[in-house]
Amino acid sequence: MIAPLSLRSSRCETSLLLMTGHGSTRATREGANERLGIIRRRNRGGTFTGAPVASGVVASPLFKAPKGTHDVLPPASKRWEALVARFARQVEAAGYGLVQQPVFEEIAVFQRLGAGTDVVSKEMYDFQDKGGRHVALRPEGTASVVRAFAQYRPPTPWKVWYAAPSFRYERAQAGRYRQHHQVGVEALGSADPDLDVEVIALGWELLASLGLKGVLLLLNSMGDGDDRCRYVEELRRFLGQHRHDLADEDRPNADAHPLRLLDSKRAATKAVVAAAPRILDHLSDGATARFARVQAGLAALHIPFVLEPRLVRGLDYYGHTTFEVQSSALESAQSTLLGGGRYDGLVEEMGGPPTPGIGFGSGIERVLLACDAEGVFPVGQSAVEVYVVDVTGGEAARQLTAELRGDGIGADRSFDDRPMRAQMKLADRSGARLALIVGPQEVADGTVSVRSLGGEGREQVSVGREKVVHHVKDALAVKDRS
Ligand code: HAM
Repeated sequence: MIAPLSLRSSRCETSLLLMTGHGSTRATREGANERLGIIRRRNRGGTFTGAPVASGVVASPLFKAPKGTHDVLPPASKRWEALVARFARQVEAAGYGLVQQPVFEEIAVFQRLGAGTDVVSKEMYDFQDKGGRHVALRPEGTASVVRAFAQYRPPTPWKVWYAAPSFRYERAQAGRYRQHHQVGVEALGSADPDLDVEVIALGWELLASLGLKGVLLLLNSMGDGDDRCRYVEELRRFLGQHRHDLADEDRPNADAHPLRLLDSKRAATKAVVAAAPRILDHLSDGATARFARVQAGLAALHIPFVLEPRLVRGLDYYGHTTFEVQSSALESAQSTLLGGGRYDGLVEEMGGPPTPGIGFGSGIERVLLACDAEGVFPVGQSAVEVYVVDVTGGEAARQLTAELRGDGIGADRSFDDRPMRAQMKLADRSGARLALIVGPQEVADGTVSVRSLGGEGREQVSVGREKVVHHVKDALAVKDRS
């Protein structure tokens, strides 16, 4: 029997064959693979999988990102950076500090989000670790923040922000991912309705500052605990009376978790819910007055909103204010750009002292999809301002990029001694505004040629090597002013 070769040795043999005159085209490579007994075949996802064959050699599989996940690569990642940086600037200026947290927690932390919620009952990525602990990847940000608050008991008000991934085993489609990313804030330790206004305003301002216009703020109050109990009883009674008209999938929840039906996307249930009692009609005087203050605060800041009494949101921890911002530019099932609300009982549920809290989370992918649909918030300018083209071996490029970077000027170069044309192509692709060109003539003259790139024409001047960094600084400043 032939002992299986390792993947590494199969690669070695492939490259040896290619180096010994078999060429490097795909056809010849495949020929080489055949000669080595490597079978390449397509799996259902279209990727190649290696198969162990008679000779025992295994081809390298072509891996893909898991379903429902995606890679964020340059230049698109530039917008991510810009979005997170903008959010950080806005919320830090309002007194919120960054929290950086584990992506997994003891599962019980997330079970506090509510047994009847899809997030907990169906979508959690949970598993036993090697020590036998039952843990889960975070499906959202609030639970971890509240767990940290209960653990460290920082002074209040505790105002924090995050930019982090969340994991939900959902049906993957555009705008709905199994790993998505949220920017969000949480503010703990104050029940002041003005804090509700501050938090909602931060979310609204983020979207407005990106240039989004087709956005609608929906607002509701879920009242206090007693209000909710009374309302849930009445809703349960109503849904019981209309049980046969509900969508089959929603019927089991009508009794166990009636609030879940209010945001059902199923047509039959939606029709029933349209005539259901409204929570806003069941608020106590105190909750009504509180909600009026939130509305007055938003109006005073000129933030438009629409009351949506069916907005209970998909997590169980909410009371009093709940809100969402929806985009008219996206498919309705994935149109919520941001959602949040008050969770005054959650800290206690995590073992902390009674502490009110409010926050929101906003899906970065969805916000950027809405920006694409509205044609706003384009990819920002490259951080590379100067590209050094050196056809004399690379030493000049090494020195010039180091000097430029040392002076705070974004600079890049090519490697591997490529020809002039190839280096100029890279210079154009880099997004730089100037190319510094060093050829044999420049070396002989002790100069560097400075050429404008992009839509700015192809002017070229010759500058003494010693003066070039100074010249570049001045030239970039002139371009910034024009
Ligand atoms: P959420 O509504 O479940 O709330 O999620 C917040 C936002 O994350 C949504 O509005 C949406 O933009 C985005 N999002 C959620 N699921 C997905 C997905 N599968 N794919 C893409 N984007 C998604 C929360 O997570 C709460 N923790 C918000 C909060 C903070 N409430 C109080 N504080």
